[in-house]
Parts: sequence; structure tokens; C-alpha cells
Amino acid sequence: MTFKIRKAVIPVAGLGTRFLPFTKTSPKEMLPIINRPTIDYIVDEAVKSGIKEIIFITSSTKTSIIDYFDRNLDLERQLRKKGKDVQADELQKLSGMIKIIAVRQTDAKGLGHAVLQAKSIVGNEPFALLLGDDVIYNPKKPALGQLIELAEKEQASVLGVGEVPMENVSSYGVVDPAEDIDDRTFLLKGVVEKPTQAAAPSNLSIMGRYILTPKIFEFLEERNVDEATNEIQITDSILKLINTQKVYAYKFNGIRYDMGSKEGFIKANIEYAMRDPELKETVLKTVNFYNK
Ligand code: G1P
Repeated sequence: MTFKIRKAVIPVAGLGTRFLPFTKTSPKEMLPIINRPTIDYIVDEAVKSGIKEIIFITSSTKTSIIDYFDRNLDLERQLRKKGKDVQADELQKLSGMIKIIAVRQTDAKGLGHAVLQAKSIVGNEPFALLLGDDVIYNPKKPALGQLIELAEKEQASVLGVGEVPMENVSSYGVVDPAEDIDDRTFLLKGVVEKPTQAAAPSNLSIMGRYILTPKIFEFLEERNVDEATNEIQITDSILKLINTQKVYAYKFNGIRYDMGSKEGFIKANIEYAMRDPELKETVLKTVNFYNK
């Protein structure tokens, strides 16, 4: 089997309760960083990492995500009529960026259940999994691309991790390294979903980026439901994968924004604005005003 990562699964069926009432009518993935929705940054990272096909796991209230990556011929026509060809070309380019497939998840039974919906489309090849809450900034080398490089070299699954303060480990899947390969690469002997601080094997936490071999589907098919959450956790199946095949964690290079939290959303918007020469001025003026 050639070990090449071509497909990415992006689950987008979550309710987004932390962003109610916004999420009453709009998917949380459509929350913007400046003028682009969060999901655009995630898809862009996948495309720049060499992904050729995106599989969205969606629900009935998420059609705007699919529409966003489709063409809007009427809008393009109107823009061209007004002489705004540059904008029209940009919109056209956006929709031609990548092949998109949408699969409906009819029950919200957790991340593992969402990924299982992609089984027949992914087939018997390794794939990437990106979570829509995590935006990772690295303009030189996208985080997913870093994981793909290691996965293709080792022909193995790789989890993207970052260090978090011990008091925050209970918000993440936390890995248990068996061996440090180098200062960024770890061979794993375990993983725990949202452990207490006392039970956490390390502070290396999963940051919404995974490369998984198709073997994961065999474990997901067992449909073991976590008692505490009543959900099928991906982490349980990853633990089984670790007991069967080599699985690595890679501490990727990049700045991660948790777009699932209000703090992360604000931080992302301010920092992306600071990287834009025109908007930087506005941020600095506002900060100066409030610092007076
Ligand atoms: C999910 C995963 C968890 C991971 C986290 C951040 O949790 O289950 O292992 O660390 O995303 O990417 P959630 O934040 O959806 O509860």
C-alpha cells in the first residue's frame, strides 16, 4: 500500500452551544476571523498541505458551509456587471479550490461517530482529520502538512499535539509518550480523553489535527459508547490503534486558536488584524485609547 494522505475529514455537525445565540441560525464554523469564516482557514490549511478531497460531516443546519465552497453564479454575475471582476474572480477561485463531499450525521453521537460516517468515502487509505474549532497559524508550513510529512515517512498515524498548562489538561485528549524520538516527535503508549490533572500522563494535548490509518474504522465500528458522555469517542479507538500499530504524536509548529471559546475567537481576530498592515493601526489606536 502506498501511504499517501489525500483525503481529509472535517466534522462540522456540532451544536456550538458556547456561541448561542449566534449559533441559533448560523453554524459556529461560519464565525469569522476578519472577513473569512473559520472553516475557510481550516480548508485552506488542508489544501496547502496537499489534501485533494474534503469530506464534511454535517447536519441539517449547516448547509451554509457547503454553499460557501460552492459557486454563487448570481453574485458573480452582479459583481461583474458592476465592474468588480477582481472580487468575482476571487469568489470563483474559492469554489474551485477543492473537491467537497458532504455526509449527513443524523444523530449527534460524538466525534468517533462523526468520523465513522466517512468510512465508505475514505475507504482503505490513511486520512487526515481536522477539527473545526482549532485554527492554526503558520504561513510557512501548515500544521497538517507537518503531520503528513511524518506520517508518510513512518507510514503510521500521527496526532498533532501542543503543550498546555497542567490545570487545562481536562479539556483535551492527552497523550502518553513511550519514547521521545526527538524534541517534537513521540512514539505513544497511550492516550486519555479529558483526564483529571492527577490522572494525566503528560501535558501534551491533542489540538484538533490527526493522521489516521483506516484501521481506526474497525475500532469505531465496535460503537463503544463512553458512559460519562454517552458518545462514541475517537480517543477510545485511537487507544486501540496504539495497542495494534505504531502511533506518533508530533508537537507541530504554529499558533493555535481555540475558536470554540469566546477568548480564542477574540484573540484570533485581534492577532490576525495585527498581521494586516491596514488593520494593525486600528487595533493599536483602540488599545491606546483604552490604556489611557
Ligand atoms: C476534542 C477531542 C479532544 C481534543 C480537542 C481539541 O474535544 O475529543 O481529544 O483534544 O477536541 O482539539 P472537544 O473540544 O470537541 O470536546
